Amino acid sequence: MIETPISTEEQTIEEQSPSREPVRHKFRRTARRELDRTTARLRQLGSRLKRNLPNGNGNGGRPRKLRHAHIIGWGKYLPEKVLTNAEIALKVETDDEWIVARTGIRERRIVSEGESTATLALAAARSALETADLNPADLDLIIVASASPEHLFPATACLVQDELGATNAGAFDLSAACSGWIYGVSLASQAIATGSIDYALVIGAEALSRFVNWEDRVTCILFGDGAGAVILGPSERPGGVLSTVLGADGSGGQTLSVPAGGSRMPASAETVSNGLHMIHMDGRKVFRFATRVMRRAATEAVEKAGLTMDDIALLIPHQANIRIIESAARGLKLPMERVFVNLDRYGNTSSASIPIALCEALEAGQIEPDDQLVAVGFGAGLTWGAAVIQWMATPAPERPWRTRSRAALYRLARVRSALRRLWRRIETWLFRPPAPGA
Ligand code: UT7
Repeated sequence: MIETPISTEEQTIEEQSPSREPVRHKFRRTARRELDRTTARLRQLGSRLKRNLPNGNGNGGRPRKLRHAHIIGWGKYLPEKVLTNAEIALKVETDDEWIVARTGIRERRIVSEGESTATLALAAARSALETADLNPADLDLIIVASASPEHLFPATACLVQDELGATNAGAFDLSAACSGWIYGVSLASQAIATGSIDYALVIGAEALSRFVNWEDRVTCILFGDGAGAVILGPSERPGGVLSTVLGADGSGGQTLSVPAGGSRMPASAETVSNGLHMIHMDGRKVFRFATRVMRRAATEAVEKAGLTMDDIALLIPHQANIRIIESAARGLKLPMERVFVNLDRYGNTSSASIPIALCEALEAGQIEPDDQLVAVGFGAGLTWGAAVIQWMATPAPERPWRTRSRAALYRLARVRSALRRLWRRIETWLFRPPAPGA
């Protein structure tokens, strides 16, 4: 049995006034100690149980060997509201022809009132759990890559964790802009390979339209909202994430940024009136950087995986600009038939663009089992990254009762969350810390 030690503060109070202590205080202290003991016992029991499960973090007590991290689930969510080039041309001086010729974008999706980065991320996450046929409690880690998170803190990943009811998962946000999803896949796949975790949910989610200056024709034509998610899991079978390459060059940070709202320039009436809480970009500089880095990162990742470009069935690039994608394909000597493009419909969804494109490539039947893919991205920071993935997954067979039970789990998660909030209020009321010197 675990004895919860009495804090020095409590000891002092007891020594000072053992007999005069009000009954209410005594009751509170005893109840608190009992509660702490029970919680500790339950936690211990839980982690012991988990360690001994075949999928448990502790690998059932067996010695760990290096495993392969495979994508076993995938899902996407795009808001319903469509914003066409023609509609943008009503707000700023531009036209459909210019936008299509210079970017390849025809329309993008935009969040409606009530939608935000977390709601998009949650929908994509649920869809990924569905294809993987996993329950939220199976997840060990949730990473949300986003350049437009729900708040500075708490992390969007924690909000998703709560809504899913992923009670065994750690959760954090990752800030690497459009390269964020690749950064997340890199971290998660290594944690899986070493046996530190089993199942990771990596989401790229953006509500960039909330940060776009709708009077700036250079940026407002580019960005769109959406989310894509994958679940990575362990396997003894070689394949899955074969290699990743990450890079950064902070000297280019100012070329693409949201200048205000952080600790350097806190939000104020002045920053808002100057539009400093919105996206600022030097398009030409980012363009030049992108064409250089896409080819380099993809080449490095392919070499690191021990492959050549001839082994690559499909390139899934960050969907920023068709001219950047075509330039990368030319540099890599890949015909455009082996490059996936969907930016015409969604614009640049930053960290979400690669996982959304991955889902659509699968839906379009452009990825076969055993195919080797390269995902490559670049973005604010400046950052870049590439991942080579050998595709082994097929969606889990449809089992309606599992889908129904997951839906019930999501409802339960909401109840659990509400109860925990209520309990926190009761706890605060019951266990008020003693006043200084009491
Ligand atoms: O995830 C990373 C996010 N960022 C990017 O990927 C951005 C990368 N950069 C780009 O995609 C391109 O630089 C843009 C699409 C932003 C701009 O295309 P560009 O071919 O580099 O155009 P530019 O900036 O060189 O501008 C050419 C002209 C300029 O007029 P002047 O100075 O030649 O008279 C611009 O003012 O086009 C003008 N222009 C526009 N005209 C009509 C700029 N934006 C627009 C517009 N409609 N929306």
